[in-house]
Amino acid sequence: MRVVSGIQTTGNLHLGNYLGAIRNWVRLQDRMGADDVCLFFLADLHALTVTQDPATMASNTIEMAATLLAAGIDPDRSILFNQARVPAHSELAWILGGTARVGWLNRMTQWKDKAGKNREGASVGLFTYPVLQAADILAYRATHVPVGEDQKQHLELARDIATKFNLDFNVDLFPLPEPMIPEDTPRIMSLRDGTAKMSKSDPSDMSRINLIDSDDQIAAKFRKAKTDPEPLPSEVGGLAERPEARNLVTIYAALSGETSQDVLANFGGQGFGAFKPALADLAVAKLGPIRDRLVALLDDRAAVGATLAKGAARADALARPTLVAAQQALGLQI
Ligand code: TYM
Repeated sequence: MRVVSGIQTTGNLHLGNYLGAIRNWVRLQDRMGADDVCLFFLADLHALTVTQDPATMASNTIEMAATLLAAGIDPDRSILFNQARVPAHSELAWILGGTARVGWLNRMTQWKDKAGKNREGASVGLFTYPVLQAADILAYRATHVPVGEDQKQHLELARDIATKFNLDFNVDLFPLPEPMIPEDTPRIMSLRDGTAKMSKSDPSDMSRINLIDSDDQIAAKFRKAKTDPEPLPSEVGGLAERPEARNLVTIYAALSGETSQDVLANFGGQGFGAFKPALADLAVAKLGPIRDRLVALLDDRAAVGATLAKGAARADALARPTLVAAQQALGLQI
């Protein structure tokens, strides 16, 4: 099994990233066999598709890498690096740009959402973002890609690109990568709007729990989370039309390792006055230790940078032969 996944360096990591992706990365790393390889990276090149402040770019990368380490990624067992340090990602992305079709990219919902009405003014990078993502995956000939629900479409595109490349050049270079979304992987929504996903780009910090948040911030954010006036139902069916209530129950279940039905068996009939403090206590118990490790790691940012550099050298050694094989398939003289 060759596992690859990445995360954009556009700001703080939040509870959605943790429950939707990072926790699964740690689980995969922990049950890796002798022939398996896990590669996890900070997608700093992808972060360039939204306007970035150069002054915070480097610190974002270090802080997010420290968060991954604090959450349990072990750089001795997994390969942890930042994308910009491994040139094969960009080089392969250009090559795959010849394989991907404009029509395929036009259908990407993330492109449609992020470009909005101003398509003419959007960056080319935002449009070709999924091609770089395909290169990230295919450069390692990955077999499995652990992501949240929202990345499924990009994974399908990576499979389409791999299939067409293999076919067009009559090679068997790229295996088709499988998205890995374990059943208990929740989609975490904003604390201010149960119909929008929890996101780094939401201007309101109250909409998300950041992994760097203090215990008091975590408690305050849950206390102020949007809800409705009804008590919790005793059956999950009762949450159908109540997105904010459903989201809080989903978060409780994901953190406690129970199903939403188990949570409602305990809290059904109770109001949010009782449920929110219980949720805050649980979140502090689960996330507090990660935050404490993160704060300690940030005391030595140079050490985190050195860990990334080492990981990049290992990643480069794995990606380069794939890039060379792709160049040969195309008849490039390198
Ligand atoms: P990004 O940085 O938006 O998110 C990183 C991971 O977190 C998951 N996620 C969520 N899961 C549940 N609820 C949420 N509210 C939530 N928000 C984010 C995402 O599904 C993702 O798994 N394009 C990718 C980064 C990337 C990548 C790759 C991933 C670049 N190259 C190659 C896999 C393979 C992204 O924007 O993730």
